[in-house]
Amino acid sequence: MVLSVNSPKEPKVISLVIFGTTAELIFDINLIIQIILIVLLSIGVFQKRNWKYHGTIMAIGTLTMLLTVFLIMAPSLIANWAAIVLTPTSPGVLITLTHVLIGLLALGIGLFFTTRFLYFSTTSKPLICGTRLQMRIQFTIWFLALIFGLAFYVYYYVI
Ligand code: HEM
Repeated sequence: MVLSVNSPKEPKVISLVIFGTTAELIFDINLIIQIILIVLLSIGVFQKRNWKYHGTIMAIGTLTMLLTVFLIMAPSLIANWAAIVLTPTSPGVLITLTHVLIGLLALGIGLFFTTRFLYFSTTSKPLICGTRLQMRIQFTIWFLALIFGLAFYVYYYVI
């Protein structure tokens, strides 16, 4: 995303690859990664009887998310911070900030479960890192982060 202070949607960088929207290639790749991750997590949700398999899938998903935040999303956020502060109530910035807050929550809870899983894997403790309700809440938060990420993409690069 490249935000300018006067006109949040300018300048547009036209990319003719992958989706052919105004998004830079790296953001198309990020979108694809995030969709693959939610599919992976959905598969993980149904591996309830095999906790090792379930935990491994969830850990891979969370650590991949961590990488995409550090390498792609956080740098974009920092690069556009000035425009975000100057136009905090514009629709695009509200979508961005909502996405970031929910995304940080999803990442934080995911890292908490992942750390517990990795720690329990090295001990003889049972590999159950949270309750069913906690897991459902986590999946819902992650899904909401994705929805706002998609909203961001559509707002800035499609419409
Ligand atoms: C479960 C967690 C998350 C999911 C599923 C998710 C998903 C997405 C998706 C699908 C996009 C649109 C593709 C793109 O434009 O790159 C996006 C963009 C973005 N995300 Fe996230 N995200 C998550 C966490 C975070 C976190 C923790 C941050 C905080 C740094 C963040 C900041 C951003 C920013 C700034 C963009 C815009 C990138 C651009 O300039 O195009 N996201 N995210």
